[in-house]
This record gives sequence, C-alpha cells and structure tokens, in this order.
Amino acid sequence: MTEILEVLVHRRAVKAFEPVEIPQVLREQILDAARHAPSSFNMQPYRFFWVESSPRKATVAKLCLGQMPAATATALVVAVADIGSLAATSQAQLEWMRRSGFSDAKVRDYERTAKIGRILFMPGPFGIFGAFKWAVFRLLNLWKTMGMPPVFHQDLLKWATKSTSLACENLMIASEALGLNTCPMEGFDGRRLSRFLGLSTRYHEIVMVIAIGKKSAAYAEPPQWRRPLDATVTVL
Ligand SMILES: Cc1cc2nc3c(=O)[nH]c(=O)nc-3n(C[C@H](O)[C@H](O)[C@H](O)COP(=O)(O)O)c2cc1C
Repeated sequence: MTEILEVLVHRRAVKAFEPVEIPQVLREQILDAARHAPSSFNMQPYRFFWVESSPRKATVAKLCLGQMPAATATALVVAVADIGSLAATSQAQLEWMRRSGFSDAKVRDYERTAKIGRILFMPGPFGIFGAFKWAVFRLLNLWKTMGMPPVFHQDLLKWATKSTSLACENLMIASEALGLNTCPMEGFDGRRLSRFLGLSTRYHEIVMVIAIGKKSAAYAEPPQWRRPLDATVTVL
C-alpha cells in the first residue's frame, strides 16, 4: 500500500485527545493541505476558523454540545461554507493571472467566465432572480442537454458545502499524515456558533467542526465497520 493509502485507512474519528501543542508550522501545513483540495470553478468558497486559545476553545467546545472530542482537542477547526467571497476570489485570481504574465487572451477569457459566473451564481433579492433563472434553465433543458447551476440561496450554500467538505477531508488526512488525529463533528449549535464567530446568516453556513489533537493513550477505538463495496458501488 502507498503511504497515502495507509494514512487514508488509518484515519479514525478520535473521541479523546491528549493535551499536546500543535506548532505553528504544523498548523500551516495542515491548513495549506486543506486549500489544495479541488473546488468548483476553483472558487474555494470556504473559510476556516482555527480555534486554539483557551477561553475561545472552551466556548466552541461548549457549542459543540460539550462533546468529548471537542472538550479534549488541542484545536477546533470550524469549517464554513462561504458564498460571500465569490466576487473577491475571482478578482484575486484575475490579479494573480495579470501578475503571473498570463496572455491578454487568457485574462480576457477568465474575465468573461467570471462575469458569467457572477450572473449564474447571483440569487438576487428574495431569490427573485433565482426563480427566473430556474424557469429559464428548466425550459432550455427540455431541448438541450445541460447542467443546472445553483439558482436559489440554499442551492448556493449546498454548492459551497461540497467544496468545503473536500477541503475538510484534505485537512483531516494531512493531520493524520503529520502524526495528529481528528474528529469531524456536526453536533453543534450552528446558530450560536455562527453568532460567536460573527458569521452572516446570508453568506455563511458552518459545515462541520473538526477536533484536532493527539489521540489519548487511554482511548481505544472501536472496530471500524463499513458497508460492503457492492452495497455502495454500481459498476456499469
Ligand atoms: C459530517 C460528519 C459529522 C460527524 N459528526 C460527529 C459528531 O458530531 N460527533 C462525533 O463524535 N463524531 C462525528 N462524526 C464522526 C463519525 O461518527 C465517524 O466518522 C463514523 O462513525 C466512522 O468512524 P471512523 O471515522 O472512525 O471510521 C461525524 C462524521 C462526519 C463525516
């Protein structure tokens, strides 16, 4: 087995951690691995809050319903789907392309794509534009083979959640590869945690909180069960 596969199969959701420090260099490696995940249109529609200072971590652990992984972790990473960053992200990519010497044609191509993206991904006030887009796309789809862009606000959050989740998996696998352990958690009070982090209800949704630390020596993992391949895979 390759080292990557070994890390993948050894990762477990660890429920109790030892109090170890995570040096800044390790933290940066873990977060850097997260942002290397693929994302839809390379829009990287997420934000990570790395919570490690004592009082804040205690508050976040409490908002994770006092779960043991949260209470004992060295750091808690709150992964947030962020649809408020799209315009700034495409602008930043455009500036990077100009700085990096991309040809004018390539820059213009990207500008055009970004413009179309902005129109497609904008739900508009009260979702009115979203409803209009939905009707247009459904009508066109009667004749034409085409994908449906995220039209409503909830679709956009779902769209951003997919890319955020991939970044979360990268973060967990990188932690494991660097000798740490993790536990992803969706057991948290989203409303209070969002307020604590100053998130906007319009643009942000917490996808999961990841507890990171070193597995406690006293913690024994239960055996790992997975559905058999033929229950989850169809080969056509
Ligand atoms: C989206 C998501 C949410 C989860 N939420 C929690 C949680 O709130 N608390 C917890 O202890 N484990 C949580 N888990 C961990 C799962 O229980 C665990 O991954 C699963 O039982 C399989 O165990 P394994 O990861 O050790 O193979 C979550 C996992 C995922 C992917």
